[in-house]
Order: sequence, then structure tokens, then C-alpha cells
Amino acid sequence: MKFAARSPGPLVLRRLPETWEPAVFRHITLTPCAPTLGAQVDGVDLSRALDREVFAELDRALLEWKVLFFREQPLSEAAHAAFAERWGPLFDDQLVPTHRDNSVENVVVFERNAETVGLENGWHCDGTFRPEPPMGTVLRAIEVPALGGDTLFADMAAAYDNLPEELQEAVEERVAVHDWSLGAYSGKYADRLDELRAEVPPVEQPVVRRHPLTGRKTLFVNRFFTREILGLPREEGDALLARLCAQAEIPELQCRFRWRPGSIAFWDNQAVQHYGANDYWPERRVMARASIAHRHARE
Ligand code: SIN
Repeated sequence: MKFAARSPGPLVLRRLPETWEPAVFRHITLTPCAPTLGAQVDGVDLSRALDREVFAELDRALLEWKVLFFREQPLSEAAHAAFAERWGPLFDDQLVPTHRDNSVENVVVFERNAETVGLENGWHCDGTFRPEPPMGTVLRAIEVPALGGDTLFADMAAAYDNLPEELQEAVEERVAVHDWSLGAYSGKYADRLDELRAEVPPVEQPVVRRHPLTGRKTLFVNRFFTREILGLPREEGDALLARLCAQAEIPELQCRFRWRPGSIAFWDNQAVQHYGANDYWPERRVMARASIAHRHARE
């Protein structure tokens, strides 16, 4: 299969599904960060229970903007969990279940410092190596370096839209294998690799997936967890995979968030990939993450 390399020029920057009108928000204020994704949300206190109208607006804003940013929200772990759980049950996104003393189950606090370096600087979606990856993630900054440690996001519907048409057609029905043990986790669990590989075996995922609520086609392969595209000679499949993964690296399809303590990013894991910049070592960066397994039935 021959496919055209990307050429310079204007991009397709479609933020909404074709049939959607931008919503009018009455309870929250949105400040967009980039043409198709990312908006800062003001006017809501996430430490309080969200009433129905505010929840509905945040939910719609998440679908429209794919990643929402909040400032000055110094939540406790319990409040962090409660906010995320408004969308659905929390997901244990670690391979080894995370039951720690004095912590809220499935809110994972992770610290990077001189001894524990960050390994989040690769484009990925959370948990695509599970049969059902989480629908979204709420990431909160507890302590951040003076400079660096930003998180970048890429719009995977726009990534699909900006593939040449013949490439869109060529990958439409393709299936790829996703495997957690390709990336950083393999080092973390080096002493139990075989046991954990048997517990969490590779899964097959479509290369192009329809977002269940917006209906938009999204490119669903990533550098961290996608091992191979099935049905093609290995070299050809690898070249195709590399070409598809490179779509997340197009700057016009990205936004970048600079953290402050108490900042929150809430992303739609079915719409974006993310990349945690690793430019602050040996400084400390402490974050808390809760991923949402799947949505509650719609309210
Ligand atoms: C992640 O990759 O899940 C976290 C990203 C970050 O720490 O910025």
C-alpha cells in the first residue's frame, strides 16, 4: 500500500460534528485554547456537588471541546473522585490494582522527581490495551515545577479528517493490536512481565472508531500501546502505523496546558490523545489522576 506523505497547507479544522450547532452555555464560561479542542472553564466550583444544569453544560462542553481546563480547584482526593464519578464509575488504570492506605480508591497520585523520572512523554490514549478503554480522565496538579511539565492534547477526529481521502478509505476497516507491555509499563513490571501479560493480554481495536456520542470518526492508534496493524506484511503495517500515529504530532491539531497547583484537565479519552512533557527533571511534579470507566446511563 502506498500512501501520500503529509504536505504543507491549510488543514481541516472542524470542531463539531456536522449536524451540531455550538451550544449556548448559561452556567459556565468557556475560553477556547485552540480552533478544535481545549477550553478553559470558569464559573464552577468543582468541590461542590454539581447540579443537573451545570453537569449538563460541562458534559456538552466536554463533547464539543474534547478537553476542559479548570483553574484554582484545590480538590481533596475524595472531591476529585466525586467529580469524576459524576460521569461514571472510576477505572483502575494501573495494571496492578491500586489499593493504598489513606487514599481514595482509583485516584492515583503520582510523583516525578530526581529518582522517579516521568515517562508520559509519548502520544497516547489511556488504556487502549483494555477491551474497553476509559471514557475520560480527570488529571489534577498538586505540585508543579516552576517551568515545564505541561500536558499537550491532540484532536483525533481532526487527525482522521486530515488524512488524505485514499488513506481514510484504506484504514476504514483495519484492525490493530494494542499491548500495554510495549511502553513504559514494561520497565515498571519487568520482574512480572509474563504473569501480567497473561493477566492483561493484547486486544484488538479498530483503527478508526466512531465516537459513541458525537458520531465523529477518530483515529484510534497510538505510539504507546498500538503494536501492529493486522492483515498487512509487517514492514508495510509498521510504515502505515507510523504514518497514522504521526497525525497526533501536527501542531494545528493540538493544544497545550500549563499547569498550576490546583489546575485540572478533564479529557474525553475517546476524542483526544495526550502527551506529558518531560522537560522538568530533576524537579518535582505531583499529579492526581482519576479515569472514568464508562458513562452512567444518560441523565
Ligand atoms: C498521563 O499520561 O496520563 C499523564 C499526563 C501528564 O502527567 O501530564
